Amino acid sequence: MKTALAVSILITILNFKLYSCVTSHESEVEEFKYIASPIDLTDQNFTEALKNDNYLVMFYWPKIEISDEMLHTVNLLSEIYNVGSNTNLKIASVDCEENNQTCVDNGIVGKHVEDIFGSFVLKLFKINEINAITYTEDDTYIHYVLEFIKDHLNFPESDNSGVVELTDQNFKDLTLNGSWFVDFYFPWCIHAKNLEPTWNKLPSVLEQNSSVRIGKIDCVEYQKTTCKKYMIRNSPTILWLENGNIIDRYQGQRSVKLFKDYIES
Ligand SMILES: *[C@@H]1O[C@H](CO)[C@@H](O)[C@H](O)[C@H]1NC(C)=O
Ligand SMILES: *[C@@H]1O[C@H](CO)[C@@H](O)[C@H](O)[C@H]1NC(C)=O
Ligand SMILES: *[C@@H]1O[C@H](CO)[C@@H](O)[C@H](O)[C@H]1NC(C)=O
Ligand SMILES: *[C@@H]1O[C@H](CO)[C@@H](O)[C@H](O)[C@H]1NC(C)=O
Repeated sequence: MKTALAVSILITILNFKLYSCVTSHESEVEEFKYIASPIDLTDQNFTEALKNDNYLVMFYWPKIEISDEMLHTVNLLSEIYNVGSNTNLKIASVDCEENNQTCVDNGIVGKHVEDIFGSFVLKLFKINEINAITYTEDDTYIHYVLEFIKDHLNFPESDNSGVVELTDQNFKDLTLNGSWFVDFYFPWCIHAKNLEPTWNKLPSVLEQNSSVRIGKIDCVEYQKTTCKKYMIRNSPTILWLENGNIIDRYQGQRSVKLFKDYIES
């Protein structure tokens, strides 16, 4: 009994050492490129716009710097929801200096608004509902903001994103021929969770004639065979495979635009 416990603790510790959850290489100074950015809303068109769509709106003050993480999140969300027509959400922003009335109307008032609200206020407006829902978490990773959105908007759960779910059973057959761009991930890893919405968007922005397939594989579930074969230690690990062989490891920043450029280059 004791030995079994000791062994299982040891395995747990070793696992933590062996496997890590990694962000993209932020230190490489490389400008992020995004396909989309938030839609500008103003005192003139705010009310009208909100009649037609659900909106996630970031209210901000141009003189107050917003964290890179938050900017990254709203831009990635814009890539996901503002591109294409099959979404029931729009991502927008309102400059509270230029559009004071809209901000006052939404309860963002005070002499020193930044002291009260910080560098931004994020609110979700649902069509035909009077009260907006304010995002109150401190964390601004895309994963958390997306959870917030999904808690309040009824998205269909189906994942018909076009990303192929790979398993030990189908991996070999499917990837044997042709070009595959595959996300190897550990589901517990926050950086893998942050990548997921961007990854799901990818198939829909590639050229129609692209022969590259987009896949993903859960490396906790398929640790012992497929992920072992490709020696996956970090999550997410993004590999370019040709006929099942590793051709390249994607090391860049993780936006739809940069993935697309990489695939199509
Ligand atoms: C609202 O007006 C701004 C500034 O004119 C414009 O950039 C934006 O596209 C408009 N948004 C909508 C949803 O009409
Ligand atoms: C809007 O204008 C009022 C009056 O000038 C000011 O007190 C308030 O701080 C402003 N609100 C915002 C959100 O900028
Ligand atoms: C893979 O490619 C080989 C050689 O071109 C071909 O013979 C084989 O049928 C292909 N397999 C699949 C599953 O497409
Ligand atoms: C795919 O389509 C795009 C645009 O329609 C075109 O520019 C490109 O050359 C095509 N690529 C191939 C491999 O046919």
